[in-house]
Amino acid sequence: MKQSASFTCSACGASHRKWAGKCDACGGWNTIVEEAPLSTGPRALGARGRTIPLSDLATEEAPPPRASSGIDELDRVLGGGLVPASAILVGGDPGIGKSTLLLQAAASFARRGLKCLYISGEEASAQVRMRAQRLGLSDAPVGLGAETNLRDILTTLDAERPALAVIDSIQTMWLDQVEAAPGSVSQVRAAAHELVTFAKRRGVAVVLVGHVTKEGQIAGPRVVEHMVDTVLYFEGERGHQFRILRAVKNRFGPADEIGVFEMTGGGLAQVPNPSALFLANRDQPAPGSAVFAGIEGTRPVLTEIQALVAPSTLASPRRTVVGLDGGRVSTILAVLEARCGIPFTGLDVFLNVAGGLRVSEPAADLAVAGALLSAREDVAIPPEMVLFGEISLSGALRPVGQTENRLKEASKLGFSQATLPSQSKIEGGAGMQIRAMPNLIAFVGEMFGAG
Ligand code: TYD
Ligand code: MG
Repeated sequence: MKQSASFTCSACGASHRKWAGKCDACGGWNTIVEEAPLSTGPRALGARGRTIPLSDLATEEAPPPRASSGIDELDRVLGGGLVPASAILVGGDPGIGKSTLLLQAAASFARRGLKCLYISGEEASAQVRMRAQRLGLSDAPVGLGAETNLRDILTTLDAERPALAVIDSIQTMWLDQVEAAPGSVSQVRAAAHELVTFAKRRGVAVVLVGHVTKEGQIAGPRVVEHMVDTVLYFEGERGHQFRILRAVKNRFGPADEIGVFEMTGGGLAQVPNPSALFLANRDQPAPGSAVFAGIEGTRPVLTEIQALVAPSTLASPRRTVVGLDGGRVSTILAVLEARCGIPFTGLDVFLNVAGGLRVSEPAADLAVAGALLSAREDVAIPPEMVLFGEISLSGALRPVGQTENRLKEASKLGFSQATLPSQSKIEGGAGMQIRAMPNLIAFVGEMFGAG
């Protein structure tokens, strides 16, 4: 039977029968690429397989101990340390600091007695050694290799049997039995498959580094996300020193957990108290600023939401949003207009989360509305106040989870007032002065006069 070639979207991994300019599954343009056909040898479809052994669900074995890296921000994102024999993907824009983070992590694990290999397919050994020197890691017992041929790498891993192997990056790896260029979907997928299978079978934890590109030209690590146990994204705004390591998938811990780092001249430094950092250099009480008491993963994080509202000269005024969901902001603007009679027509709106954090919680709605109104009315929100709560389309305020944790964090950082939805579950209130609001109209009336 002749196997015809198939086509795969390099952005979402959907398969297609024929090439097309646009992927139906994800809507991406020019992301569909041809895949090498499946093998048609004696092991091809139709050959009879062996029966696999089956077992009970019950287990007497204790869960394998996790290895701590000694870098708390990393351990937390991993769900409490590194799980043996797990496969982890670390994705992020080129230049964001993935190699730096993983070299530091490998060195830290190695210093704690774990056997670690760092295989670079992007940089020569000398370059990695220079970086290690700059980071003060030269003495860490990490086995360093510079190689892109996966067959050789797997043979080496099999001989060395490390506890952890870092593969930097998956896009540079190639298997000689796959006839496609390194970085193509077929190669990336095949290489990741080999490494993940190896991790499970031989008990080696592997970390795959993957570059994310806006255009699907080189295969993004999206196809790899399904294969691994844990997917971490390393993010940060250009021009900001802060880097956020975010778990977007974790079979061994909570997703949405974040670790905060700062890129310094000597590598990545941990930021154990991100709230203090995101609120540092806060301008004097100014219109357009609202402090949001948020939750990232299991940890409360306070951030400042900044708005600027100015008369527009454009037919359709600007809506520039950084660090928040643009659709959500449009909804809040519409609710303010429809339910409170406060229009933003003819006004340019700029919104920004200070410090470069990305906030995706609906709980930020009230702080966003507060910042917008404060900017529009030119009235500053009291600097000792935090806000949180979800805004529904009716203009009602909906309570959000972890009220007490948010209040505690705010209190710890010296805030004394909180504006929140009136149905929130408050136990104690952490000594904060609470302003409970049933809806947006009440909020506008109380904070900014009748509106
Ligand atoms: P890198 O880890 O090479 O990024 P990636 O692997 O994600 O492509 O980091 C590159 C950037 O980090 C580079 O622009 C320089 C900066 N950097 C520092 O600011 N301090 C340091 O100590 C190091 C090693 C890098
Ligand atoms: Mg790199």
